[in-house]
Amino acid sequence: MESRAVIRAEGLEKVYGYGRNALTVLKGISLDIGKGEIVSIVGPSGAGKSTLLNLIGCLDSFQGGRLSVMDKDVTNLSVEVLSGFRNRHIGFVFQLHNLLPEFTALENIMIPLMIRRVRRGHARGQALALLDRFQIADRAHHKPSELSGGECQRVAVARAIVGDPDIILADEPTGSLDRANSRMLTETLLELGRQKGATIVIVTHDREIASQTGKTISLVDGKIES
Ligand SMILES: Nc1ncnc2c1ncn2[C@@H]1O[C@H](COP(=O)(O)OP(=O)(O)O)[C@@H](O)[C@H]1O
Ligand SMILES: [Mg+2]
Repeated sequence: MESRAVIRAEGLEKVYGYGRNALTVLKGISLDIGKGEIVSIVGPSGAGKSTLLNLIGCLDSFQGGRLSVMDKDVTNLSVEVLSGFRNRHIGFVFQLHNLLPEFTALENIMIPLMIRRVRRGHARGQALALLDRFQIADRAHHKPSELSGGECQRVAVARAIVGDPDIILADEPTGSLDRANSRMLTETLLELGRQKGATIVIVTHDREIASQTGKTISLVDGKIES
């Protein structure tokens, strides 16, 4: 691999299930995303967008092709190695926020830093700054069940960007919000990512958001449509 793509996929294939129940969801995906690029993935429901984003995020295994992330071939790495790799390089915003219910907003944002063994006081300061940036500083000590859907999504975005990851992946991060709030949150995510020079891949239904990204990948039935 000669060039320095941050994300490079070659012929990625993903199959769910086995035998008669096998369902091929990604049918040979090849792509190259460079440092600092901002890319949207669009396509109909069931096209394989979340599956692709999960593979790029090193969250799931695949059956064919090769994948390299940050110039590292991650195709055959163990789950343990991958989780450390993710923590160092990747921030992920899930479609459903996936916050840990037993921790407060503040603690949820601090977790990626604590895993990296950042000093507690420093982690706390960074998390508080983001809560402030997202105008929910007064919710710092509330647990997800005590927060609205929109507040949870803001916490989830803060958690994804807190460690200045090289790569930010967001899977329809604002699916549960109204359009105005959804755009505001996504624009903040793009703006913060841009400031840090992060590479961003965002799955979205919103053409307006897709139009703000440098490149749009259209996924239909497990293939990239040109
Ligand atoms: N864990 C799973 N097991 C089996 N099938 C799955 C699983 N996750 C997703 N699928 C199927 O894979 C296809 C693509 O799903 P997904 O990647 O979630 O699409 P999208 O995000 O574009 O809506 C769908 O047909 C879905 O039902
Ligand atoms: Mg999806």
